[in-house]
This record gives sequence, C-alpha cells and structure tokens, in this order.
Amino acid sequence: MSKVALITGVTGQDGSYLSEFLLSKGYEVHGIIRRSSVDFRERIAHLEGQPNFHLHFGDLGDSMSLVKVVGKVKPTEIYNLAAQSHVQVSFDSPEFTADVDATGVLRVLEAVRACGLEKTCRIYQASTSELYGKVEEVPQNENTPFHPYSPYAVAKLYGFWIVKEYREAYNMFCCSGILFNHESERRGETFVTRKITLAAARIAQGLQDKLYLGNLSSLRDWGYAKDYVECMWLILQNDKPEDFVIATGVQHSVREFAYYAFKHAGIELKFEGEGMNEKGICVAGPEELVGKVLVEVSEDFYRPTDVVNLWGDPTKAKAKLGWNPSKTSFEELVKIMVESDMAKVAAEGAAQKVRMNLAEYLEKGIVK
Ligand code: NAP
Ligand code: GDD
Repeated sequence: MSKVALITGVTGQDGSYLSEFLLSKGYEVHGIIRRSSVDFRERIAHLEGQPNFHLHFGDLGDSMSLVKVVGKVKPTEIYNLAAQSHVQVSFDSPEFTADVDATGVLRVLEAVRACGLEKTCRIYQASTSELYGKVEEVPQNENTPFHPYSPYAVAKLYGFWIVKEYREAYNMFCCSGILFNHESERRGETFVTRKITLAAARIAQGLQDKLYLGNLSSLRDWGYAKDYVECMWLILQNDKPEDFVIATGVQHSVREFAYYAFKHAGIELKFEGEGMNEKGICVAGPEELVGKVLVEVSEDFYRPTDVVNLWGDPTKAKAKLGWNPSKTSFEELVKIMVESDMAKVAAEGAAQKVRMNLAEYLEKGIVK
C-alpha cells in the first residue's frame, strides 16, 4: 500500500525538512497551508511542483477545513506540526495559542474519527520539552513530571494529554514526540539561536552595531532540525504507539551559543559583568570592532516566567528507535547556521542596512 502523509505546519522549519525526508522515502506528501494575502512560502518553494507534493488550504482553528482535507487525502500518517510555536508570543496572544496548540490537536484527532480513519491512520503530535518548564529534575526523560511555565506550554500540555486519551479511549495509533529545541538555517528569525547567528553575520559584515538579548544564562539542549524529523517518522514506524523524548543529551547556555556563533563569524567575544549589566565585548577580530560592546542585555527580552534548565535524556529513543542523537554536534550546528547566515547577509548586501532587525521589532512589541 502506498504511504500517504499529511503534514500540518508544512511551511514551518520542521514541516519543510519532514516533507523532504518523506519524499525521499517515497511517500506521497500532502501539506496544509493557511490562506494568506501573500503567496510566498520560502521554506517549501523548492518542493512545489514536485509530482508527489501537494498543498491544501486549512487551518487548525477550523474543524471543517480539517475534515475536508483529511477526508480527501485519506492519509496513512498525519504529522501535526502546526502551532503558534513562539513562547514569548504566547504571553502576548494566550487565547490564540490555546486555540491552535491545544484545541487544534483535538480538531485533528476528531477529523480522523469523523472520516472513519481511526484504525488506519497513525498520528504524530509535535510535543515539546517546554512541558517540563520549571523543571523538577535534570536531565528530563519520559517519566519526569511536567510543570508547564508559559501559556504555550500549558496549551501543549493539553495536546499531549488529549493524544494519550484518544490512544487509550479509541485505541488509536497516536503519539507525542517530546522534542527538545532543534534549530537550523531555516529557523524563524525571532528564536534565540537564529537571532544570534543572523546578528553575528550582520555585525561581522558591518550591517548591525549590536545585539540585544534577554537571559544569557538560560540552558538548552539544542539539536539539528534535519536530524530530528527522522525521529518523528521513526516514532510512527514503531510497533506500539508510544511517547518519546528526543534530545541530544548535551546542554549549553545562550551565552555559549553567542560565543561560538560570533567566533564562527570571525569575532572573539569576552563576557563581562552580571545580569542586566553583562556585556559581550569584542577582544579579537576585525580591527574596527575590537574593544566594542557587541552584545548587551535588555529587559525587553526577558519573559514573565522563563524555562531555564532544559536537558533531555534520549535513552529510550536510542534503545527503541535506534536513533542516533549525536549526528550533528552543537559546534557543527552553530557552524551550519552561521555559515548560512554569512552567505545570506552577503547576498542581501546593502539591502540589509535598511532592514530593521525583525527579532527586536517583533519582540519589543512594535508589531503585535
Ligand atoms: P514553526 O517554524 O513556527 O512552524 C509552525 C507552523 O505552524 C507554520 O507552518 C505555520 O504556518 C503553522 N501554523 C500556525 N498556526 C496555524 C494554524 N492556525 N493553522 C494551520 N497552520 C498553522 O515551528 P517549528 O519550529 O517547525 O515547530 C514545529 C512544531 O514543533 C510546532 O508545533 C512546535 O510547537 C513544535 N516544537 C518545536 C520545537 C523546536 O525547537 N523547533 C521543539 C519542540 C516542539 P504559517 O507559515 O502560515 O505561519
Ligand atoms: N527568543 C529569544 N530572544 N529568546 C531569548 C533571548 C532573545 O533575545 N534572549 C535570551 N533568550 C532565552 C529565552 O528566554 C529562552 O530561555 C531561551 O533563550 C530560548 O528561547 P527561544 O529560542 O525563543 O526558544 P524556546 O526554548 O523558548 O522555545 C523553542 O523551543 C521549544 C522546545 O523547548 C520553540 O521552538 C518552542 O516551539 C519549542 O516548543
């Protein structure tokens, strides 16, 4: 039987890599996109027009659209990646976040039941390490208690539990991947890693003076998105529907990420001071930058409640799925992202000078 995958959130970072991965495995891939006044989907533009790649309009806030697409496509696997995925934004738009990230999951499950596919369609839910939130133990595994610490995490917790409920109540093959942070050259520009690599590239090329960040001591377990999408697929190929933690097992701070990112861009930073007064000063690199403060801390990027100690234990995924969490190291990930942004910034050239730093623009609340 031919394998037919339906991906919600196909235009996002993970949706684009997962589409490529499933196409390479011979799947017929269908993606759900939202209606928009502009018709440009940067991350999947290279896939459009391929014979096995199809797009359908739909929205996680609209059950009817989901029932129509699921009924038409009759997928054998659904990957529910669509979400309002930014933690800071969830404080600004908590209701929208709950509708998409919590009730949206229920709508997908119900669409599968309404179309009579509950015995034939396997469902992957994009769950998150944010569920551990104000962490109760380190490192975190499948048995660690949850303590969500943002409107985003609370909404995702509903998604996690409703998937488990449908698995037990209706015997559906639906499961959650509890994924720790994963990044790439396609990462949204307001997430901290991409904000840093883009800024390092701009500063190195004389197009930006300084980078403002929030909590530099926050700790994350960062992996490469391209490696993580394979795991989503492996979770659905497992004999039994089970939930898995997907992580590298290695932890770094935001400060360390910034240090290595600037280093790859040819700038050596030294961090001095503490808390709001901490600064990243250029101690080696282009002559005109040496001695200058390139990284500063701004209150604008602090969250009302922040998750500061994420560190995953991927033992179960290694043992049961045969997944290799060390494919791309932290250093390689930073290098991939910086090299991509150095090339992007160079190509965009002078146009960058007039382009406001999108990350600061959004996060300072100028655009809501
Ligand atoms: P992303 O780049 O922000 O992509 C989110 C996707 O969801 C986009 O395609 C977006 O469409 C779509 N979307 C948002 N609201 C929607 C709605 N109402 N209806 C339909 N589609 C909607 O996120 P990502 O990094 O790829 O993450 C994928 C999933 O994994 C998300 O659920 C996220 O919460 C979760 N997750 C991510 C990480 C990580 O580190 N990346 C870790 C754990 C879990 P538009 O293009 O139209 O905006
Ligand atoms: N975005 C951002 N911007 N974060 C900053 C900044 C800044 O200027 N300065 C410090 N940080 C800190 C945040 O406070 C947080 O502790 C950490 O950097 C990571 O922030 P993000 O990159 O925005 O990611 P996240 O961990 O909050 O959420 C991402 O990972 C989750 C998995 O744990 C998202 O992809 C979520 O969708 C995902 O579930």
